[in-house]
Amino acid sequence: MNKDKLILAIETSCDETSAAVVKNGREVLSNIISSQIYIHTKFGGVVPEVASRKHIEVINEVVEEALEKAGVTLEEIDAIGVTYGPGLVGALLVGLQYAKGLAFASKKPLIGVNHIEGHISANFIEHKDLNPPFVCLVVSGGHTFIVHVKDHGEYEVIGQTRDDAAGEAYDKVARSIGLGYPGGPKIDKLAKEGNENAIKFPRANFHDNSLDFSFSGVKSAVLNYLNKMNMKEEEVNKADVAASFQKAVVDVLTDNAIKTCKMKKADKIAIAGGVASNSALRRTLIEEGQRKGIEVLFPSPILCTDNAAMIGSAAYFEFIKGNISPLNLNAKPNLKLGER
Ligand code: KG4
Ligand code: ZN
Repeated sequence: MNKDKLILAIETSCDETSAAVVKNGREVLSNIISSQIYIHTKFGGVVPEVASRKHIEVINEVVEEALEKAGVTLEEIDAIGVTYGPGLVGALLVGLQYAKGLAFASKKPLIGVNHIEGHISANFIEHKDLNPPFVCLVVSGGHTFIVHVKDHGEYEVIGQTRDDAAGEAYDKVARSIGLGYPGGPKIDKLAKEGNENAIKFPRANFHDNSLDFSFSGVKSAVLNYLNKMNMKEEEVNKADVAASFQKAVVDVLTDNAIKTCKMKKADKIAIAGGVASNSALRRTLIEEGQRKGIEVLFPSPILCTDNAAMIGSAAYFEFIKGNISPLNLNAKPNLKLGER
């Protein structure tokens, strides 16, 4: 029988410093996440240079804690996985350089991982029997993709945003109604008290049959609505704005995801990324999925936001294919899905 494979994974692409130990791509032995959100909240968004400096300060203890909690030593690790893109370049470089140093010193293989691929792979941890093919809707603060996952590490991008990411739209709208950063969870909560049909916000529709997304229209529509109400000196019902905005976003995400399943004859759709925690998105997709005979899968919230366990899972599937990265691997802030 093959020996178990242990991956030590490191993730520093944005504002979470995270390290994890993952067994055979599916079992999380530890997943330490040190969030900087409390620092960036003051600025209303992530400040790249502050993020890099905070990663530098905590990465050593985060990695040590991950090994300790997993009860393994560096010698027992089979490979070191690390996010090398996409993300903030200065933030990526901290984790990447740390991982390269560890790999060099310990003579372990280094595996560069695409952050988006990591988000998709969170589903392999949550759903132990899940294997490609399936459709995946990746919705985070920086990305919005519909992907046909043909095999481990093999992706076809079916649709993507032409402007803002879904999470970015949540954050901007939240700021405009005074909810603060990060706005997604706050809108999700407030929307529960509002009427989703109170205000009709636009849904972007492309005439070229594309399954792309655009969220800048709905974001501007919210801002225009707030301005208009302000000029008329009428009181804004924030819960109605949150619920109506959320419905506009969730409707297009769900529509395009279901259309992709039909196109690819897929009977499974997984969601991934920070916005995959959204309660309305989960509920609507499940309802539509039941109607169309499509199984809807999602990771638990801790695996939806940025974390190193998902990177460890993606790294494992690369490792068993023999895809080892060179030690001169550089950070790629605009790394595309499927690109190496
Ligand atoms: O995946 P993630 O942690 O970081 C990126 O890779 O971008 O996603 C963070 C994004 C933020 O925009 C946040 O507002 C959004 O995910 N988010 C949510 C929810 N929880 C987090 N958006 C909507 N509803 C939520 N419950
Ligand atoms: Zn992310």
